[in-house]
Amino acid sequence: ARSIYLSRHGESEWNVTGQLGGDPKLTDRGRAYAQCLSKFIDAEFTKKGKELPLVWTSQLQRTRQTVEHIPTMNVRWRALNEIDAGICEGMTYESVADKLPQVARARKHDKLKYRYPGGESYVDVITRLEPVILEVERQRGPVLIVAHNAVIRAIYAYFMGKSQEECPYIDIPLHTVFRLTTRAYGAEEQLFPLEV
Ligand code: F6P
Repeated sequence: ARSIYLSRHGESEWNVTGQLGGDPKLTDRGRAYAQCLSKFIDAEFTKKGKELPLVWTSQLQRTRQTVEHIPTMNVRWRALNEIDAGICEGMTYESVADKLPQVARARKHDKLKYRYPGGESYVDVITRLEPVILEVERQRGPVLIVAHNAVIRAIYAYFMGKSQEECPYIDIPLHTVFRLTTRAYGAEEQLFPLEV
């Protein structure tokens, strides 16, 4: 059995305003989550006499800030960046529905395959995550992946055997660590909502 720890970044400035994508910083609450996450890792590994997990983030500052208190190196994968919302980057769902109703409608109709103009679809994200998943599979020890809503959905779906169709709708709350333990047949999950 081996564990994979998944988390979204802590609350960002754009989580508060409801804007899509971008490269915003963490809010005070998001930074508090970064502290909680490092305490959680300390309790889960160091205090149990275990070596720290590998820590992988995206290249965006909100994921890097989320792991900054964990006392180990982290690898920054471009493939872990959030879904590229193309012309909708920086917009809210409301402004997309208002100014680009055809985009909102088409995405609602087929969220898995719909590609944002100038951006990506969930299928694109799932495809670019293949090298990351392969690298997770090669590891013998635990890995902590701190990334983004769409990306964590795709990784979670892969390890939990969910279909691609379900993937865009999986609920991945902020400030929660998902621990997936892979066994011979399938994986078990445990959720750790961390108090911030
Ligand atoms: O709102 C946070 C966020 O990570 C956005 O940056 C991203 O576009 C969105 O979630 C992805 O979720 P959905 O595919 O449900 O719009």
